[in-house]
Amino acid sequence: MIHVHEDGREMAEAVARRIAALAAESVAERGFFRLALAGGGTPKRCYRELAMMDVDWEHVHVYFGDERCLPKGDPGRNDSMARDALISHVPVREENVHPIMAEFGAEEAASRYKLVLEGIRLDLVLLGMGEDGHTASLFPGGAFGSEAVVAVHNAPKPPQDRVSLGLSTINAARGKIFMVSGEGKRSALERILRGEMLPAALVAGAEWHVDRAALPIT
Ligand code: 6PG
Repeated sequence: MIHVHEDGREMAEAVARRIAALAAESVAERGFFRLALAGGGTPKRCYRELAMMDVDWEHVHVYFGDERCLPKGDPGRNDSMARDALISHVPVREENVHPIMAEFGAEEAASRYKLVLEGIRLDLVLLGMGEDGHTASLFPGGAFGSEAVVAVHNAPKPPQDRVSLGLSTINAARGKIFMVSGEGKRSALERILRGEMLPAALVAGAEWHVDRAALPIT
């Protein structure tokens, strides 16, 4: 399902409302909401909107779709962006925030995160898409395999070393939402709409939220 929004602001607000609604459903049905956050720049605006919405943060667990192998607290990390735009502004319990410990290096962090996720089904995974059609830190040409969490090296988007949820973990989630904004993503989106199996296209049953600028010109 593709939802087209006028611009990035409208997309951010709409997705924040969707996340708040899914959180309410999940907490009502299961008593918790396990949310994996996307990195990069696009989600920032959505996170700021979400921070102002009525969410039962007491029952929310925050995970991450991927992390860059940078020192803990480095401003280039995805969890730093999420803390700045969302986590520090809401009453989520610190023990319910589960960062990927990418400061230990890709292999060590991936094996640790596998343990964090053991027996866990994520309720919602938020995802971005790169201009090459990557998502999380699953890049074209990468060997994804069936790992629950993958160590990534030689990533074309710096830093080269990363940790990512594997496709199996992403696809096992109850919900997946993509946020794609800007004309820089148009070509990858067009390739996916034409059936090219870029990494983002391998996420099954996702809800796509795109702005007009990212839509291929028909
Ligand atoms: C990262 C993200 C990556 C991101 C896309 C889109 O580490 O950068 O995990 O997958 O979501 O590259 O990034 P933008 O939203 O900045 O375009």
